[in-house]
Amino acid sequence: MSDPTIAAEIPRRRTFAIISHPDAGKTTLTERILRAGGAIQMAGNVRAKGERRRTRSDWMNIEKDRGISVVTSVMTFNYGGCVFNLLDTPGHEDFSEDTYRTLTAVDCAVMVIDAAKGIEARTRKLFEICRLRDIPIVTFINKMDREAQDCFALLDEISNALALDVSPATWPVGRAAKFAGIYDLRTKSLHLKEELPEDDERLALMREEVELAEVALPPFEKEFFDEGHLTPVFFGSAMKEIGVTDLLDALAAYGPPPRAQPSETRDVQATEEAVTALIFKIQANMDPNHRDRMAFARVCSGKLTRGMRLKHVRTGKQFALHTPQFFFAQDRQLVEEAFAGDVVGIPNHGTLRIGDTLTDGEDLRFTGVPHFAPEILRRVRLDDAMKAKKLRQALVELAEEGVVQLFRPQDGAPPIVGVVGTLQLDVLQSRLQAEYNVPVGFESTPFTLARWVTGDKAALEQFEALNRSAMADDLDGDPVFLAGSGFMMNRAVEMNEALSFHDIKQIG
Ligand code: G4P
Repeated sequence: MSDPTIAAEIPRRRTFAIISHPDAGKTTLTERILRAGGAIQMAGNVRAKGERRRTRSDWMNIEKDRGISVVTSVMTFNYGGCVFNLLDTPGHEDFSEDTYRTLTAVDCAVMVIDAAKGIEARTRKLFEICRLRDIPIVTFINKMDREAQDCFALLDEISNALALDVSPATWPVGRAAKFAGIYDLRTKSLHLKEELPEDDERLALMREEVELAEVALPPFEKEFFDEGHLTPVFFGSAMKEIGVTDLLDALAAYGPPPRAQPSETRDVQATEEAVTALIFKIQANMDPNHRDRMAFARVCSGKLTRGMRLKHVRTGKQFALHTPQFFFAQDRQLVEEAFAGDVVGIPNHGTLRIGDTLTDGEDLRFTGVPHFAPEILRRVRLDDAMKAKKLRQALVELAEEGVVQLFRPQDGAPPIVGVVGTLQLDVLQSRLQAEYNVPVGFESTPFTLARWVTGDKAALEQFEALNRSAMADDLDGDPVFLAGSGFMMNRAVEMNEALSFHDIKQIG
C-alpha cells in the first residue's frame, strides 16, 4: 500500500551545498542561513562550535592552525515549510575529492561570488563539477556593502565565464556603505534595512537599472534553472544580513526538490516507495566520546525509519539501522524517519564505505561517486618495524574514510599513498600518530601518475606480469598502473590497445 507521507514530504526537501572561492563569504553566509532557519540563536556559533570541535584532536589542529575547514558537515533546518539539508564542503582545494563527493549528494548549489572580485578560479572549477552533474545553481553576489564591480558587468562576467544564462532575481538599492537593501524583481517589492524617502537617489538609480535589466536579461524560467542552464542571481551582504532570507525564500519556492539518482541499471526516482540510500562520505571523530565512524547517507527514495533492516548491496548482507542520526546545527538527533533528499548519519565500525548503496532488497548500485587519480604519490616510511601490522590496518581504515588513497604494490613493496593535495598527507600523518600511535614519514616514489587499468582479463594479466614493479592494487583490489612520467604513461596506453587507462574511478 502506498505511503501518503512520501508524496507529501518529498516536495518539501531542499538539499544543497554552497560553493565559492575562499574568502567570498561562504562561512558567513552559512551562519546567516542557519540563523534565518532558527538553527542557531546567535550568528557566529558555527565558527565558535567549530573552534571547540577543532581542539579535540591533533589532526583537527591542522584546521585550526591553518584556518581552513577540512571536515564536511551536514546541517538540517526548517524554513518556509521546507526541510533544508545544507552540506558544507571544505574550502581548501587539497580536499577537493571530499567536495566532489558531497556534490553527488545535493540537488542544488548556491554559488557565492565576491562582488568586488567576480568569478574566481575555484568558483569556476566547482561550477564545472556542478555542470557535469546538471546541478541547478543559485547565485549570491556577496559583499555589496563594500566597493563592488558594476552589476551589469558582474552579470555579464558570470554569463560569459560560465556559459550560463543569468536572470537577476533581486537588484541592489545603493552600493558600498550606502547599500540599503534589495528590490525583488518578481514580487516588485522593496526589502530595505532602513526607510528611504521616495526621491532617494538610490531608488532612482535602482529603478533605472531594473528597467534596463528587465529588457536586457532573460526572465527566470524554472525549466531552464532545473536543467542547470540558467541561474537566478541574488545581491546581498551576508555580513549585514541583506538578501539572505530572499535567497532562502527562493529556494523554498522553486526548489529544486530531490532529483532522480543514477544507478548502474536505472535512474531511481525520489518518489519511489522502496528505500534506497547512497553513502557519499565517511567521517571519524565526530564525537571524541564515541570512537565511531559515521557514514553519511543520502536517502534517494522511499522512507527510511529507525530500526529498519536494509540490504548492503556491496556485501549482500543485511544492515540494521539502529541509530541513524540527523545533524541539526547544534546537535545530533536520532532519526525516526527520513525521506529522499535527507542526509542521515549512520554510525558503524567500518562496514559502510564511500559509494556503497543500501536498498530494501533490490540489487542496484548507485553511480557517480568518484575517485580521482592522485597527483602526488608517496611511500609510507615506518621507523618502528613492530608497528607494521598496525600501520597496515590503520591505512586501510583511513583510506576507507577517504583521507588518502591506498595502493599496495603487487611486488610486495611498502604501501604507497596517493593524494590530490599535500594537506591530505599532513592529515594522514597527524591522525596515524594521534589515533593509532604510529609515527610515520613519507618518502618520494619513482611514480608521478596513477591510472586504473581495465580490460580483457588475459591482456590485463599479461600487462601486470610485464609491469609487476609498477602495478598496485587499490583499496578494492582493482589494479592500478603507476608511471614515472607522462611519457611512460602514454607509451603504456599506446602499446596496450586492449586495455583502458582511467584517471577517474566511479565507486559503487
Ligand atoms: P569563506 O568561508 O568563503 O572563506 O569566507 P568568510 O565567510 O570567512 O568571509 C571572508 C571574509 O569576508 C571575512 O572577513 C568576513 O567577515 C568577510 N565577509 C563575509 N561576508 C561579507 C559581507 O557581506 N560584507 C563584508 N564587508 N565582508 C564580508 P575576515 O576579516 O577575513 O574575517 P573575520 O575577522 O570577519 O572573521
